[in-house]
Amino acid sequence: MSREYKVGVLGASGAVGREVLNCLEDRVFPFSEVRALASERSAGSKLEFNGGEITVQKVGPDSFKDLDLAIFSAGASVSREYGPIAAKSGCPVIDNSSCWRQDERVPLVVPEVNSRVLAQHRGIIANPNCSTIQMLVALKPIYDAVGIKRIVVSTYQAVSGTGQKAIEELADQTRQIFNCQDVTRKVYPHRIAFNCLPHIDSFTDNGYTKEEMKMVNETKKIFGDENIKVSATCVRVPVFYGHSEAIWIETARHIEVGAARELMTRAPGILVVDNPEANQYPMAVDAAGRDEVFVGRIRADISCDNGLTMWVVADNLRKGAATNAVEIAELLIRDPELLKTSWEW
Ligand SMILES: NC(=O)c1ccc[n+]([C@@H]2O[C@H](COP(=O)([O-])OP(=O)(O)OC[C@H]3O[C@@H](n4cnc5c(N)ncnc54)[C@H](OP(=O)(O)O)[C@@H]3O)[C@@H](O)[C@H]2O)c1
Repeated sequence: MSREYKVGVLGASGAVGREVLNCLEDRVFPFSEVRALASERSAGSKLEFNGGEITVQKVGPDSFKDLDLAIFSAGASVSREYGPIAAKSGCPVIDNSSCWRQDERVPLVVPEVNSRVLAQHRGIIANPNCSTIQMLVALKPIYDAVGIKRIVVSTYQAVSGTGQKAIEELADQTRQIFNCQDVTRKVYPHRIAFNCLPHIDSFTDNGYTKEEMKMVNETKKIFGDENIKVSATCVRVPVFYGHSEAIWIETARHIEVGAARELMTRAPGILVVDNPEANQYPMAVDAAGRDEVFVGRIRADISCDNGLTMWVVADNLRKGAATNAVEIAELLIRDPELLKTSWEW
C-alpha cells in the first residue's frame, strides 16, 4: 500500500487555507490526516472537508510534532513564530506569507519554473506572491528560449487577495450601494465597490508599494537573475476571485509572436486562450476555481524592438497560493529526502 501523510494547514479558516483544503481534496493528495489549525478566534469551528467536516484547532508549539508536512497561510508574524518550531520538529513548512521569501536560506518555489531549488530547503519553503507566480509561469518558456531583459506589469487584483474579510467588504459595499445606504469600510482605505485602488500593501521610500516590490524582488530570486529589470503597478479591483495582469516584456533576442505563442501553448501550467476575433481571451470569471495560468492577447509590442505584450489571468487563491503550495507538497512526497528538515538557526 502506498504511503499516506499527515498534513497540517495553518490558517485553515482563511481564504487561502480553505482553498488549500479544497486543493488537497481535488488533487487527491494522499493524506491519512489533515489537521486544520488557526487562532483561538476560530478554534472549534467546523470546515467542510472531504465530504464531511473537520474541526479547527488552536495552533500551539506542539501542533507539528507528528505531522509529515504543513502548509501555512496565517500571515507573516505567525510564520515567523511557528515556521522554525515546525521545521525543528521535523515537519517541513510550505509558507504562503511574505515572511521568508527573501531569506537566502529559504527557497522560493514555483514548480513550473524552479523546482530544482527545492533540494536546498532546510525545513521552510516559501511560496511566492500570487501576482509573481502567475507572471513567471507565463514568462518562463520565453525566458528560457530567448531571455528577458525587462518586464513592465500592471495588475488588476481581486479582493480575495487580501483575505476573507475583504471578500465580505466588497459584498457588503455592493449591497449597501444597491440599497442606497452609506458605505462602510474596514479593510481598504477607500471604497472598493465600483472603484479601483492603485494601492496594495504599504508604500515604500521609492514610491512603489511593497506588493510592487515583491514582484520585482521575487522575480529576480526565482529566475536567479539579478539583472532582469521589473517595474510593477499593482491595482486592487472590485473582482472577487482572479488576478489579471497586462505584461510588457523586452526579450534579449528576437522572437516572433507565433513562436512565443507556441512555446506558451506547450509549457506546463499554461492555458493559451488567444482568439480575439471570436472574443476569446482570459478573464477572471473563467479562471476562478481553476489551477492553470491563462494567457492571451499575445502580440508584438509596437513601442519596442524585441517587445511582446500579453494578458495573463489566474485564480490568486488557487495557482497564486493553494495550488502552488500543494504542488510543492506533491514534489516533497515524491522524494523522502525532501521530507527531511535540518533547521538550525
Ligand atoms: N489571499 C491570497 O490570494 C493570497 C495569496 C498568496 C499569499 N497569501 C498570503 O496567505 C496568508 C493568508 O492570507 P488569507 O488571504 O488566507 O488571509 P485570511 O483570509 O485573513 O486568513 C488568515 C488566516 O490566518 C489565521 N490566523 C491569523 N492570525 C493567527 C494567529 N495569531 N494564529 C493562528 N492563526 C492565525 C486566521 O485564523 P482565524 O480564523 O482564527 O482568525 C485565518 O485562518 C497571508 O500571509 C497572505 O499574504 C494570500
